[in-house]
Amino acid sequence: MKIIVPATSANLGPGFDSLGLALSLYNTIAITPASITSIQIIGEGKDNVRLKTDNIFVKIFSEILQSFDKKVECKFLFENNIPVSRGLGSSSAVIVSAIYAAYAYAKKPLDKDAMLNIAIKYENHPDNITPALFGGFNVAALQYSHKSTKNEITQNVLRITAPIPKDISAVVVVPNKSISTKLSRKALPKTYNLKDCVFNLSHSSLLTAAFLSHDWEKLRLASRDKLHQNVRMKNLPILFGLQKLSLNNGALSSTLSGSGSSFLNICYKEDSAHLCKVLQEAFPKFRVLELEFDNLGVRECKC
Ligand code: HSE
Repeated sequence: MKIIVPATSANLGPGFDSLGLALSLYNTIAITPASITSIQIIGEGKDNVRLKTDNIFVKIFSEILQSFDKKVECKFLFENNIPVSRGLGSSSAVIVSAIYAAYAYAKKPLDKDAMLNIAIKYENHPDNITPALFGGFNVAALQYSHKSTKNEITQNVLRITAPIPKDISAVVVVPNKSISTKLSRKALPKTYNLKDCVFNLSHSSLLTAAFLSHDWEKLRLASRDKLHQNVRMKNLPILFGLQKLSLNNGALSSTLSGSGSSFLNICYKEDSAHLCKVLQEAFPKFRVLELEFDNLGVRECKC
C-alpha cells in the first residue's frame, strides 16, 4: 500500500488558525507487511535518528490499528519532500497520512471527516490538517462540546472545502532557517485591540469570498493581516524584503506560510515563472518552488 499526502499552507494572511490550502508537494509512505517493523527514510529528515527510533507516523498508525483490535508489523518507506519546520504542514502530513493509512490498511470506510476529528487530537489547530485531508481551499472551525458524564470537553472540526482552479499557481519560498510554531505562538500578544481584530475578521471573510467566487484580484487586499505576521517576520527580517519583492513581481498575495519561515505567494499561472526567477535570483540560498494546488488531499496512490 502506498499513501500520498500534500504539503499545506495555513493562515493565508488574516485567517489565523482557520484558513488553509493544499499544495502539489508530497510525501509518500509505502507500507508492506513484514515479520518485524522497520523504517527507511528518503529525503527530508533522512539523517534524523529520532525519526527512526520514535516515529510519530508509526505511533499513530499502530494506535489506530490497535483501536480496531489489529496489531501489525510492517516495513515503512518514507519519501519526504515536504520541508520540516518550515510552515508547510509537515507534521500535519504525518498525522493525516498515518490515520488514513491505518483506515485503509484495516479496510475501514475512508470517512475523511471522521479522520479529521481524530487528527485534531494530535494537532490543536485545524488549518493544516484539514487541507492535508481534503485538498483545495479550506475554512475550518472548532466546535466544542461538553460531555457532562466525564466532565471533559471534546472538539470537532467543521469545515468547508472548495477546489482551487488551474488559473492560479503558488510560488513558495523556503528559507534556510526554521521558525518553531510553538515558540512563535508564545511570542504573540496575549491581547489585541478591537480595531485589529475587526481588520482580520473583515479581511479573512473577504479572502474566503474571493476564493469561493474566484475573484483573484481581491486577494491583493484581502490577504493582509494585523495579528501575527509582523511579530513573526521580525525573527527573520529578510522576509519583509521577500514579501515586498513578491508583491512587486506578480504575486496577488504573499503571506507567511503558517508560522513560517516559508512564504506562500499566489499568482496567476502565467506570472509564476517570472516570479520564481526573480525570487531565486534575489534569494539564492533559499529554495523557490513553483507549485500547483492539490485538490484531492491524502489518498492511496498506485505510483
Ligand atoms: N495557524 C498556526 C499558527 C499554524 O499560525 O501558529 C498552523 O496550524
